[in-house]
Amino acid sequence: MPLTNCVIDPADPFAAVTHAAPYDYYRRLADGPALRFEASLDCWLATGAAGVRAVLAHPACHVRPPGQLVPHKLAGTPCGAIFAELVRMSEGERHAVPKQVLARALGQVDLARLHARTVHLAQEQPPGSAARLNDALFELPLFAVADLLGFAPAQWPALAAWTRDFVACLSPLSNGAQLAGAQGAAESLRQRFAALLLEADALPGSLLHDVVTGARQAGWQASGGVVANLVGLLSQTCDATAGLLGNAIVALRAQADLSTQLRSAPQRWPAMLREVSRHDPSIHNTRRYTADAVELHGVRVPAGQMIVVVLASAIHDAGGLAEPGFGHGHHVCPGQSIAHAIAAACLQAWSAALECLPLAWSYLPSLNARIPVFRPGEVT
Ligand code: HEM
Repeated sequence: MPLTNCVIDPADPFAAVTHAAPYDYYRRLADGPALRFEASLDCWLATGAAGVRAVLAHPACHVRPPGQLVPHKLAGTPCGAIFAELVRMSEGERHAVPKQVLARALGQVDLARLHARTVHLAQEQPPGSAARLNDALFELPLFAVADLLGFAPAQWPALAAWTRDFVACLSPLSNGAQLAGAQGAAESLRQRFAALLLEADALPGSLLHDVVTGARQAGWQASGGVVANLVGLLSQTCDATAGLLGNAIVALRAQADLSTQLRSAPQRWPAMLREVSRHDPSIHNTRRYTADAVELHGVRVPAGQMIVVVLASAIHDAGGLAEPGFGHGHHVCPGQSIAHAIAAACLQAWSAALECLPLAWSYLPSLNARIPVFRPGEVT
């Protein structure tokens, strides 16, 4: 059999994230037990809608290993100071109030205005080459969120560059140089946000103003915590929204005429993006750690175990999970509508230019985020 026709299955859920065609593998994982111990990875896997839901809804399945709020390699560093405060990395009281404040402020964003401003921004930066497109996938969403927060346009490029450097501290694949870069970026981001925070009262209508007002009302007073979580809004936007945009561009390549149809009916972009989020999501897995021994789907998992929650294996049988790639339960993503509005705006602005751009792609190295990296290739 010619080797070129064989698609070799990914070795495990981490390899699946950047595999060219992982979805048959994910479907088979979903058809197996909802919870299983995977000896080769020394961790548990939660798969299919039932496994994903059970773990993400369980109060004793935490986002950090017991007794280790911050990874050892970040302890006592600028990145560690931000990491320790992030809602994404916290549980209990330290999670509940900040999460409520952030979710409420994000829920107040005027999505129509965000969409219109992002279309305008994206039109000013058409992706004229594969290299430019790769940068724009990250920059446009970060510029749009920096704008929402209240930063002036002159500050956006530095904020976007620092955010991309900072998120390296969240990846187990980062090397020493990337970690060192992340520390400098964390400090710069902290300073920029602390400065903007002083002007919060002068920025009515901004996301920053709404977060600060909500924090005051909720009695969330730790200003270091507020700054860290404002940085967190940029870092949560970064890879995940670049992946959504990139995977949508891949989907447009796969279906001749889709781009033309959508250009004549731009109100259909949101539905197209929901399809992409469901069938080729940007976030494929997340992790939980058992704080106590737990019983999940009749399977007893001891305390102190790592569970890889394979979100992408829940996409065929969503079983009550609206879009598994945005999570579920108390850590569910509060930025979903914002991500969709930004991505829809960019695609609307770029679709004509993209059709003329010869593209091929592979995926950026990652254990959880599927982000295409484009290179010159074929026009489809
Ligand atoms: C396509 C884009 C996005 C995807 C796929 C995505 C996905 C996710 C997922 C899966 C989680 C939960 C992780 C877990 O439970 O372990 C999450 C959490 C979060 N996301 Fe998003 N996200 C996206 C965009 C955004 C944007 C644009 C924002 C803000 C502007 C945002 C803010 C957050 C925050 C603050 C959390 C932490 C929530 C918590 O821990 O309670 N996300 N996101």
